[in-house]
Amino acid sequence: MSTSDQLPSAETALPSAAAGGNPGLPDVATLTQMANSFFRALPNQPSGPENVGTYLQSPAAFSSALPLSESHLPQFGAPAPSLPALPSLDKVPNEADLARLSGSGLPTEVSALSVSPTISSYDIPASTPKQDALRQSPTGYTSPFSLPLPDFELAFPNFEASLPNIPSLPALANDDLAKSALSLGSPLYFLEHAGALSQPVPSAPFSPSAPQQAQTFEPTVSPDLSSVRRQFDVTSIRRDFPILNEKVNGKPLIWLDNAATTQKPQAVIDRLSYFYEHENSNIHRAAHELAARATDAYEDARQKVASFLNATSTKEIVFVRGATEAINLVAQSWGRRHIQKDDEIVISWIEHHANIVPWQMLCAEKGAKLRVIPVDDTGQILLDEYEKLLNPRTKLVSFTQVSNALGTITPAQQMVQMAHRYGARVLVDGAQAVSHLRIDVQALDCDFYVFSGHKVFAPTGIGVLYGKPDVLAETPPWQGGGNMIVDVTFEKTLYHAPPMRFEAGTGNIADAVGLGAAIAYLDQIGMENIARHEHDLLVYATQEMQKIPGLCIIGTAKEKAGVLSFVLEGYKTEDVGAALNREGIAVRSGHHCAQPTLRRFGQETTVRPSLALYNNYEDIDAMIAALRRLKQLQA
Ligand code: ALA
Repeated sequence: MSTSDQLPSAETALPSAAAGGNPGLPDVATLTQMANSFFRALPNQPSGPENVGTYLQSPAAFSSALPLSESHLPQFGAPAPSLPALPSLDKVPNEADLARLSGSGLPTEVSALSVSPTISSYDIPASTPKQDALRQSPTGYTSPFSLPLPDFELAFPNFEASLPNIPSLPALANDDLAKSALSLGSPLYFLEHAGALSQPVPSAPFSPSAPQQAQTFEPTVSPDLSSVRRQFDVTSIRRDFPILNEKVNGKPLIWLDNAATTQKPQAVIDRLSYFYEHENSNIHRAAHELAARATDAYEDARQKVASFLNATSTKEIVFVRGATEAINLVAQSWGRRHIQKDDEIVISWIEHHANIVPWQMLCAEKGAKLRVIPVDDTGQILLDEYEKLLNPRTKLVSFTQVSNALGTITPAQQMVQMAHRYGARVLVDGAQAVSHLRIDVQALDCDFYVFSGHKVFAPTGIGVLYGKPDVLAETPPWQGGGNMIVDVTFEKTLYHAPPMRFEAGTGNIADAVGLGAAIAYLDQIGMENIARHEHDLLVYATQEMQKIPGLCIIGTAKEKAGVLSFVLEGYKTEDVGAALNREGIAVRSGHHCAQPTLRRFGQETTVRPSLALYNNYEDIDAMIAALRRLKQLQA
């Protein structure tokens, strides 16, 4: 929808007192009256005859005039004319109070909201004239990066702090689902190999197979970039990453530490600068121009993430600090409510510590058990062993889609289906997958999906928790504070619906916007193109590394993405890392926050080159040459 077609002009949208207002909106005097009434009701504000009790000056009351929830609360300074006198309330109103108040003279929408506290959610349509009017800049400002504000909602309480229990959803176990899982052909990118896992481990040399997608589907390209899809050209892509011009020890930087973090394209750097130069404000809090710009930018990023994951709605996308925080949120919030004594949580042997420790902590607290799926000698999940671990006590399965230490692509879709047959919820850790594979949470059918922005060319300190709507609805808030509430009294707090319920305090607004820009950048290039390019590099690097005497690759699954862990006979891994660094080549050497994974292969540490879309054959050749020189020093 074009806002200019259907909405009031900038002048009429935010009428000045002199202009007399727009017939479709409350006039400024009414807004001022309501705002001042609201602020007077806050603790430590002077009371007056219109100070009629905190409940009715809540954001719900406010929302009749400003249906953007807290996002656009105006800071009016004018003295308030009196509102009609209302009965005073010294407690959270009950049904009778609310009924009494419904005829109080407050605007109808307020009454409707107030007398219906059991409504589970209240969605304001994405483009009400009032909302768009409030979003519209009086100066005609339009961000060059923004889409029309997506799917922005006033969430209404469906969760109360004082409620002891949240109704559980029925278990998902279902024979039909089980049958359909077993009767699947091989739409899974991995299934053709899954059957081979019980066969003897293939001996080296191996060649990783291309990751295939579970389903073919048209990628959702962000509308603002749909016309600029690029050919995959690694030389041109490298020019997008200014840091690749750096020199390290007098040599051009070769960045092969992408599993630790990825470099940022100019588009992301520019987007951050633009945000701070033109849009910086807190969001969801004040009805001024920059708040509207910042809110638009932030919610636009949420929309881009939803498309990137093929989620059905922005309501499924929670911004967090990173994958680690997302897993901890699920463990401490969903987990504390749904995991009980003797329940079982299943993880795999190839997890990052972030997908082990939070579950250990939860199990210790609850008396639950942690079960671990073994892997074969290539580093691939043993599906038959996994099946044996599943039972009705399994409440959660949490596993990685791509191993950060080995590069194994797990048979995620199949693993989700198997867990669901037992009624377990499933969390997929996508931290190492998002930069390599197209992700489709609907095809995966996982309940939670987590990833970190910095692994996918976005800034550090921003990440995503995806949750299915019904699963987020059964997840209590994690952190309490501002931004996540609809109404607070000393007796009771009413929370927003997801995702805002999980975003207490001021979030990492700018870096969320940066994540949106990173996703837009990837949309231009196409994840399938990236996967193909990286696969070719992985095959080439694997072949060349295997020719180096004494070099042993750790993690040889047929299905791999991005990672080439190895040890070199006669050298400590840190010495190999240091030697490569002298040549300007950045790799990680160490345990990669995956000690159980490496110990499964008899190692404490490995050297870990890892790939991204901007790596090329020259990068691989430079690393191979440096490793050969190191080997020659031993001769
Ligand atoms: N998780 C990051 C890694 O694997 C830090 O290196």
